[in-house]
Amino acid sequence: MINASNQIPEFTAFELRPLTGSLGAEILGTDLNGASDEDIAQVRMALDHYHVLAIRDQLLDPTAFHKLARRFGPFTGNPIHTPLDGFDDVVRFTREPDDRGKVIGENLHMDMAWMENPPAVTMLYGEVIPPVGGDTLFASLSAAYEGLSDTMQDLIRNLIGVHEGKGVFAVNAVHKSLGVRASAQAVEEIVAHHPLVCCHPTTGRPHLFLSGVLNRFVGMTEAESQPIISFLQSHAQRVEYACRLRWATGTLTMWSNTCLLHSAINDYPGQRRVVLRTTVAGSPPIAGS
Ligand SMILES: [Fe+2]
Repeated sequence: MINASNQIPEFTAFELRPLTGSLGAEILGTDLNGASDEDIAQVRMALDHYHVLAIRDQLLDPTAFHKLARRFGPFTGNPIHTPLDGFDDVVRFTREPDDRGKVIGENLHMDMAWMENPPAVTMLYGEVIPPVGGDTLFASLSAAYEGLSDTMQDLIRNLIGVHEGKGVFAVNAVHKSLGVRASAQAVEEIVAHHPLVCCHPTTGRPHLFLSGVLNRFVGMTEAESQPIISFLQSHAQRVEYACRLRWATGTLTMWSNTCLLHSAINDYPGQRRVVLRTTVAGSPPIAGS
């Protein structure tokens, strides 16, 4: 569970309420607009241990969101979405009341897993959130790894996953409001290799590195790889490894992108929902055990 291999630190900069026994926490009683370096360090520490944070009651315009995000690290780049005017690192995702069909990110996925160095952290800020619906579901890839038998851990330890950008452009392009860049078609050709078992760069806690675009393992065919991928995807979705985050306007959500799978829940037809998004670069995935 959360502190299986690490002591949970003390937090003095805010109140922290864990969301489940496996992952996630709410943070209350802090205004990150005026955060000190120590406050930021404590948020970072909380993120490293809980992997998902819902920081409540923040008042952030795009400039404040950008400034805050960059205190956690440099921007990863985003070859898919057109940023807001005046920014290179902030996009706005809007779902209008009359939008139909899937919401973006509805399938369980990791953000930009096809990048050589995928985002270490994704940050979303709720500008307009429906009174109910639009939760985000998270699955802990650390808890999922720890829940495997020793034999299964040994079996998969040295596998290298092949994560492909093929299909990513089409999934995004159907959402006209996302402002998908014409150049995003180049993502179709991207192929990235990541160890299937990685460890967190700060805590050393091991985790699976799964994604929605993991198609096979190096040295194996798709037919050989798919049963393993399918088992791990389904195993990671066990309810005891999950948390469901309820949003409110003013909620800032941060998550350790490579330690989780997440999905956007499409249950708010007829409602408007607007979020800001940016991503933070970290160290490339590190093979773990
Ligand atoms: Fe996502």
